[in-house]
Amino acid sequence: MRHRRKQWQTDILEKDWPFYFKNPSLLSGQWNDNHYEAVHVEIGSGKGQYIVEMAKLYPNKLFIGIEMMPLIGSYILKKLSVENLNNVRIIIDNADNIKEWFEAGEIDVIHLNFSDPWPKKSHAKRRLTYPTYLNVYKHLLKNHGQIHQKTDNIGFFEYSVEQLSQNKFVCLDFSADFRRNDHPEDAETEYEERFMGFNQPIYRAVWSYSHD
Ligand SMILES: C[S@@+](CC[C@H](N)C(=O)[O-])C[C@H]1O[C@@H](n2cnc3c(N)ncnc32)[C@H](O)[C@@H]1O
Repeated sequence: MRHRRKQWQTDILEKDWPFYFKNPSLLSGQWNDNHYEAVHVEIGSGKGQYIVEMAKLYPNKLFIGIEMMPLIGSYILKKLSVENLNNVRIIIDNADNIKEWFEAGEIDVIHLNFSDPWPKKSHAKRRLTYPTYLNVYKHLLKNHGQIHQKTDNIGFFEYSVEQLSQNKFVCLDFSADFRRNDHPEDAETEYEERFMGFNQPIYRAVWSYSHD
């Protein structure tokens, strides 16, 4: 379904915000000016609940959210416009271009939260854990950098586990029902809240990549 852009969305997307980076390639290699303990990047931030809540939980870390749909990204900008957070940056563009925005080894953690599962085999290349994406992540991650994945979709989760293991990522943590226990250290995403409301298990895995 196509949504018409509302006036507030046009206004918020056109305005210059200190947290909204319209030309992210200009920042390549300079996202962390030695200010923050770590650089976290979320690909497919949706309306931004995760990135905003994580930035509040970890003020010493930098959180960069990437969302390709301007209409959806406008909600992140709206959330941030009423917060006073210095440690969030937003890119509204397709992460297929991510290599132009970051230097090799610039990222500590990549978060893939409830990424579109693209269940049809013919669409496998679009999955954010398809090997071409994994190769880009390897390039952008620091030595021992991590990928944190959460999803409700068992088929996509199994596929991702297979791809990450085959591509030399090492699994550090794994849960087939992550929210059975409390995890105050990790914020809930919008999709996660919805699936938890249906009592669906949340699958989560943490992976590390070594350049050695
Ligand atoms: C299913 S939603 C999940 C949103 C959010 N992470 C959550 O858990 O609530 C997936 C989001 O990823 C975005 N997305 C998918 N592929 C992307 C890409 N290549 N670059 C940036 N955003 C992408 C979509 O536009 C959508 O907003």
